[in-house]
Amino acid sequence: MAGAQARQRGGYADEVSVAAEGGVRFEVDGEIATITLDRPEKRNAQTFATWSALARIGESLPEQVRVVVVKGEGPSFSAGIDLRMFTSEGVPGQGSFSSAAKSDDATFEQRIRQAQAGFLWLRRPEIVSIAAVQGHAIGAGFQLALSCDLRIVADDVSFCMKEPALGLVPDLTGTKPLVELVGLAKAIDICLTARTVHADEAMRIGLAEQVVAGGDLHQAVRDKVAQLLAVNRDAAVATKRLLQGAQGRTLEEQSVVEGLEQAARIKAIFG
Ligand code: ACO
Repeated sequence: MAGAQARQRGGYADEVSVAAEGGVRFEVDGEIATITLDRPEKRNAQTFATWSALARIGESLPEQVRVVVVKGEGPSFSAGIDLRMFTSEGVPGQGSFSSAAKSDDATFEQRIRQAQAGFLWLRRPEIVSIAAVQGHAIGAGFQLALSCDLRIVADDVSFCMKEPALGLVPDLTGTKPLVELVGLAKAIDICLTARTVHADEAMRIGLAEQVVAGGDLHQAVRDKVAQLLAVNRDAAVATKRLLQGAQGRTLEEQSVVEGLEQAARIKAIFG
């Protein structure tokens, strides 16, 4: 039904096939969209095609979707960028870092912005995004989990920001949410040592909202989705907008915005 509505508006069928090209599965069931990284035999390594697929999904997400679940098939959520990018051959049809290094600054910057677009939309106020993370979440995999609003993790999870160990920086939108979640000192510790963060620590420092046994991960996500969908949609969108803006405002400013949002809610309900 939801898929049929989206198809009528155009785009959804295209997104499903674009997603498949990027090693991603995309399904919509009513108010719930599920994105599955689907190259388990390569531990869901990500390529430019993966990020383009994510961006296209974000651009054409059916309007009725309220919750987006991001998960990975197989033992690992994602082992990060496809290591073929570091070879001179690169990923067929997508180049390599050595070819990217030869492009001019504007072209290179544009390519990074395109990749980041696949991650940024997961923070929109209109949706709540949940990363269901088991096994490895390395580099781009860690950043994809960080791009979601919530992380529900299996007890075998291992987060690792490996980029600095490879001479790179994390540039797929992960640094800001990491600092916001764990604080600057812990973020420096995690990134500049490229060490692994396991489930207990992830829970303790605020990287994960919930840790469950591996076999319970998908049920735990389903339960969270049901809780989120039980709340009034417009109130949820307005509240997420409020919460997202809170860190950038003073208490006084935030109070004013709370009042404005509430006035709009009261008018919508009782006006
Ligand atoms: N890119 C491409 N292929 C990968 C990647 C990757 N990032 N990670 C795993 N694979 C492939 C392996 O080459 C192997 O392929 P093969 O069966 O054809 O040989 C297959 O996936 C399974 O990998 P294994 O190493 O055998 O699986 P294992 O469970 O023992 O280890 C682990 C998993 C720890 C994730 C390991 O594969 C690994 O360290 N991968 C590289 C992680 C990495 O450095 N990512 C880049 C981070 S930086 C960034 O994302 C910007």
